[in-house]
Amino acid sequence: MTTLTIRSSSNDYQVNIGAGLRHQLSDLLKNNYSKVLVITDSSVAPLYLKDVVAAFGSDTVVSSEIVPAGEQSKSVICYSGLLDRCLEDQLDRSSLIIALGGGVIGDLAGFVAATYLRGIDFLQMPTTILAHDSSVGGKVAINHDKGKNLIGSFYSPVQVIYDTETITTLSIQEVRSGYGEVVKHALLSDSKWFQHLMDTSLESIEEDDLIDHLTSGIRVKAQIVESDERETGVRKHLNLGHTLAHALEAEFGYGEVTHGEAVAIGMLFAMKISQVKLAAKLPYSQYQKWLDDNNYPLHLLARIDVEATLKRMKLDKKTLENSIHYVLLNEVGSPTVIKLTDQELIQSLNDFVQKEGGRIVDQRS
Ligand SMILES: NC(=O)c1ccc[n+]([C@@H]2O[C@H](COP(=O)([O-])OP(=O)(O)OC[C@H]3O[C@@H](n4cnc5c(N)ncnc54)[C@H](O)[C@@H]3O)[C@@H](O)[C@H]2O)c1
Ligand SMILES: [Zn+2]
Repeated sequence: MTTLTIRSSSNDYQVNIGAGLRHQLSDLLKNNYSKVLVITDSSVAPLYLKDVVAAFGSDTVVSSEIVPAGEQSKSVICYSGLLDRCLEDQLDRSSLIIALGGGVIGDLAGFVAATYLRGIDFLQMPTTILAHDSSVGGKVAINHDKGKNLIGSFYSPVQVIYDTETITTLSIQEVRSGYGEVVKHALLSDSKWFQHLMDTSLESIEEDDLIDHLTSGIRVKAQIVESDERETGVRKHLNLGHTLAHALEAEFGYGEVTHGEAVAIGMLFAMKISQVKLAAKLPYSQYQKWLDDNNYPLHLLARIDVEATLKRMKLDKKTLENSIHYVLLNEVGSPTVIKLTDQELIQSLNDFVQKEGGRIVDQRS
């Protein structure tokens, strides 16, 4: 088992990473709780809920609530239903909420824990690769009809217990999604690690490599959020690839593209702009080939409406005034934030879509 310690302004917490940890919960837990509510989703529950409940001794009352799998559960209605459940179960200030699932469950259960009785303990048990990113850093949120993550808080878990065995049941699309954020953490920090990832095929990841990648990703994220918890400076670097990604997600929606897949494509675009604006020397072709080899949905670029995409990029909440603050790379491991005008973005997006979208259309015809 690998253990990392994350420092946050409210508390320090441990991240335990290893195979089979769900069976050792009661040994790993730092505190004793008389009541525990496990919040999970309809895909994860049949796989792992029984193990988690069984891991507690008879002196702990463990209940569970299962929400439908998917982003739509990060809703006010679902949140309200979970608060009802907390009240029915008479959870008190010394109870624990466990988030067993991916980023959706972490964000939702975390926001319930942050607000119920002005905050009770919550523990993250991430079950997706993407959740290596979402389970540390203390951002919890639900969505509003007007946009994603508009209702939320900064609220750190008391502990993160990452059972890497649970990753084995993820679909290949969710593996690709998670690796989008893993590659982001590599691009932000370390060219050697990035090169190693470029030699990794997502269809056949060794368990040791997976644990290494998750641990390294969490380290990078932790280092950045520890130095800028409230996103006034370097935490912005974590948005690498995200401005285009959010626009692609809104344009094509879940089913066609997952968050991490969109981020992976967004980072290729960020590399392109970095080459033009900063004369950066970046492994663009190598990364593009890796995306192709691992079936990231680059073909969606052929269907992009550039004007509409730009509009969406400007709606993104990271947009300041009328220009877009874009995270670019001076080189692998050296991110920077640059202001781009609409004109520059339209030009770059047109070039990018023509090159990548066109290439794919050509290949298929
Ligand atoms: N708080 C943060 O800092 C932060 C950062 C990044 C993303 N997020 C949020 O995370 C969410 C995305 O997270 P995600 O990609 O993990 O999505 P998710 O939680 O919806 O999980 C993806 C799918 O995989 C299924 N699943 C989860 N674990 C499984 C397992 N072990 N085996 C089989 N199926 C499994 C889920 O049921 C779901 O259908 C978004 O809502 C995003 O806003 C938050
Ligand atoms: Zn992301």
